[in-house]
Amino acid sequence: MSRYKIAVVVGSLRRDSFNRKLANAIVKLAPSEFSFKHLAIGDLPLYNQDNDGNPAVSVKHLKADIAASQGLLFVTPEYNRSIPGVLKNAIDHASRPYGQSAWKGKPAGVLGASGGAMGTAMAQQHLRNILAYLDVPTLGQPEAFIQVKDGLFDEDGNIGEDSKQFLQNWMEKYVDWVKEHAAWLVASGAR
Ligand SMILES: Cc1cc2nc3c(=O)[nH]c(=O)nc-3n(C[C@H](O)[C@H](O)[C@H](O)COP(=O)(O)O)c2cc1C
Repeated sequence: MSRYKIAVVVGSLRRDSFNRKLANAIVKLAPSEFSFKHLAIGDLPLYNQDNDGNPAVSVKHLKADIAASQGLLFVTPEYNRSIPGVLKNAIDHASRPYGQSAWKGKPAGVLGASGGAMGTAMAQQHLRNILAYLDVPTLGQPEAFIQVKDGLFDEDGNIGEDSKQFLQNWMEKYVDWVKEHAAWLVASGAR
């Protein structure tokens, strides 16, 4: 059994999402003691505080998957210079009821890909603001603003040669980041 379970949050529901492709490819660069589970955010209802006392089954599953993890991996597109609504909806759901956030203390990596030259930089900054409020420590460096270009992925969906070294280094830093926080999570009772 893998020692570190990571909850992966992809901010796009699009069938051929580049960000999902990126998430699927980058996890292959992780060591075998890490395993990754995609959180299902596409079937969540729109967040409504009236339902805090009676959450939908999909919300319960979301929070349980986060609670069972030792780390988070956000891979998101940028929509209108921020994060997509579906991602914010999922973040809000798992942050409530007040005082019962599932996110607290889980170390996170933040990545994103778009066709634009800024490669989701604005969306990632917005996401980091939200995560800071939720007491989610985020890996600062290296930042990963990925521009989707020919060759980003190879024919098998792996990271292409041009980006492999950069993303392998990103993954190594992320792995160290999660390990650094693992002891704190156990001590705090969050995991
Ligand atoms: C509603 C909407 C808003 C967008 N806004 C931005 C933006 O602000 N910056 C950007 O680089 N790309 C923007 N795009 C283009 C996305 O980066 C592009 O569609 C990308 O492929 C989406 O990610 P995905 O392939 O993972 O679904 C936008 C796309 C949509 C649908």
